[in-house]
Amino acid sequence: MKILAIESSCDETAAAVIGDDCEILSNVVVSQVDIFAAYGGVIPEVAARSHLEVILPVIHKALKDAVLTKDDIDYIAVTHTPGLLGSLLIGTLTARMLAILWDKPLYAVHHLKSHIYANWLNARVEDNALSVQHGCVSPHLKNRRKHSPSSQATILHKKSLSSVSVSSQSDLPEFPLLALVVSGGHTQIIYMKKHNKFEIIGTTRDDAVGECFDKVAKILGLPYPGGPSIAECAKAGDVNKYRLPHPKVGGLDFSFSGLKTAVLRAVQKELGVPINTPSYELAGKLAEQQRADFAASFQETACEILAEKLEMALEAHMGVKSLVVAGGVSANKVLREKALKRLSVGSDGISRKVYFPELKFAGDNAAMVGAAAYYEILSGVEPTDPYVLNIAPRQEIA
Ligand code: KG4
Ligand code: ZN
Repeated sequence: MKILAIESSCDETAAAVIGDDCEILSNVVVSQVDIFAAYGGVIPEVAARSHLEVILPVIHKALKDAVLTKDDIDYIAVTHTPGLLGSLLIGTLTARMLAILWDKPLYAVHHLKSHIYANWLNARVEDNALSVQHGCVSPHLKNRRKHSPSSQATILHKKSLSSVSVSSQSDLPEFPLLALVVSGGHTQIIYMKKHNKFEIIGTTRDDAVGECFDKVAKILGLPYPGGPSIAECAKAGDVNKYRLPHPKVGGLDFSFSGLKTAVLRAVQKELGVPINTPSYELAGKLAEQQRADFAASFQETACEILAEKLEMALEAHMGVKSLVVAGGVSANKVLREKALKRLSVGSDGISRKVYFPELKFAGDNAAMVGAAAYYEILSGVEPTDPYVLNIAPRQEIA
């Protein structure tokens, strides 16, 4: 089976070809992160235009790298929910068009499902399997209009990709499992009894943890995206320098907006300025060591909150065999260390394996979309109608 997978839910345009057992035949990601670093966040209209400019060359490259033509493809898969409306539209309409023109079955995949299934790609890729190009289009619309399709294709072909071999399947997550999905838009704990069965047992009541990283980075004057820049800055910081509160949210739910405000107030207090001082005036006043200490203290608290809730979730779900961490924030080293140290053996004394996606599959990519579709197909899920498939900017995993 060969699946052409497409992802464009936020600010990465990606296409991949996935074979049997989630073998990665090609994987192409064009990130817009350099464009949005200049603005301090994603501008939805700009993201949609950038997707439109590169999506066909990206798909073309994914096929070329896999040394396949459209005739070799058995299925098409695409992220249709959740995400930015304009971004989702570009990928979904492209996939619908290809499914109709090429007469292929179409699978519509939920973005969080894909993040979870990134953990089924583990140990399947060699180092050269992923091609990530940052900011291959100029941030200025005026300049970007000057890019001809051929010049974009040249940029896309800067790095070559090779197909990769399949390794053993022995080390895949076992069911039942708990998945912690931590991204820019979501923070959820999901119970999975088997493939394709999702039960949300905890969710954020306000901000997502990735969003919190991004907002705190802004307060501290660190570049977008906030997660990696906080992690880097925190290396020089003291995790115990500032005591930040843990939110009092019942059950397995999360809340991160209070933590963001707590950082804001702590920075204002540290600088001795009134609490009505706007956040954009604070970063310039912070000394490097203060910035690093805030970054370290915040990262430690955010990861501790996630680990605590996971511990509670494991206590409430005895018999869980694996713990799977997924989404952009799963790249965080402190979170990985805490999860491995604290959650490999639960308070019940039962040991379980903790899985993280390879770093290159933690963020948005299309290989994970192909992996999710692969298990949908194996589970007997019917394809969707390419003439009617719609996008949904917000929709729960089901
Ligand atoms: O999954 P993702 O790439 O896109 C969404 O589906 O939202 O997640 C992006 C989020 C951003 O908020 C980014 O700051 C965060 O993941 N992130 C991190 C790290 N790398 C990315 N957060 C903490 N530590 C990291 N190393
Ligand atoms: Zn994502």
